[in-house]
Amino acid sequence: MTILVVGASGATGRLVVEQLLHGGKRVKIIVRDKTNLSDFAQKHPQLTVIKANILAINDEQLAQIVQGCSAVICTLGHNLSFAGMFAPPRALVTDATQKLCEAIISHKANNRVKFILMNSSGVRNLDLDEKISNAQKAVIFTLRHLLPPHRDNEQAAAYLRTTIGTHHPLLTWVSIRPDALVDHLQESDYKMHPSPTRSAIFDSGICSRINVASAMRDLVCDELLWEKWQGRMPVLYNSTQA
Ligand SMILES: NC(=O)c1ccc[n+]([C@@H]2O[C@H](COP(=O)([O-])OP(=O)(O)OC[C@H]3O[C@@H](n4cnc5c(N)ncnc54)[C@H](OP(=O)(O)O)[C@@H]3O)[C@@H](O)[C@H]2O)c1
Repeated sequence: MTILVVGASGATGRLVVEQLLHGGKRVKIIVRDKTNLSDFAQKHPQLTVIKANILAINDEQLAQIVQGCSAVICTLGHNLSFAGMFAPPRALVTDATQKLCEAIISHKANNRVKFILMNSSGVRNLDLDEKISNAQKAVIFTLRHLLPPHRDNEQAAAYLRTTIGTHHPLLTWVSIRPDALVDHLQESDYKMHPSPTRSAIFDSGICSRINVASAMRDLVCDELLWEKWQGRMPVLYNSTQA
């Protein structure tokens, strides 16, 4: 089983790569700079590194990279600097999601390829009646108009829900929505819910990046778990909120 990870040099992506390699999977990554990877990953014989900017790869090359992958995981996110938030590419996550999905579709694999997107609990699943307070609506409205990364995450999720949909013959997806990210050294129990169980803005819970990585690994490897969540946007929390 080969899995492509984009965003692999990021805080969560690195952990996804390590967990997949520990689980005996073959992993391909597209990174601008591989020095952010751990020594374990960099030297691992089952890791193939493609040094490139995902948005600069042409469609034909991307289709070749995706060929033979049973799953594609996107943990891209805007760097938390002024340029990362406000300079192009403002639609990093959406454009990468669209390019990757089109690449998957173009080579017509025998089995549906799994696509996992790292999204955010602040993004509502508009297929569900997710109620939020007026105060939260006002904050989200402001974020949407002032912060390109929030709008980008909303548009990436919307692309999967509305353009790919839930019955695509070649592609099946899960958009994971972790609540506030924290860094823990060890995996712990986590819970996935169809919708937020607390306010993402005023009462956020914690979710460790290592548990986001575990959830992604579990979704890739566990068919029953995948069946349960495919086409959905599970919200992820650590079971213990400390
Ligand atoms: N902060 C929170 O509490 C929270 C909560 C829920 C969800 N999220 C979402 O989680 C996602 C990932 O979070 P994280 O902390 O793991 O991210 P991160 O450490 O900032 O990693 C971001 C990744 O995206 C890549 N990237 C950034 N700009 C790029 C560009 N212009 N072109 C190509 N690659 C680019 C980075 O590559 P380089 O190493 O080359 O820069 C890196 O691999 C984000 O989408 C964020 O919105 C955050």
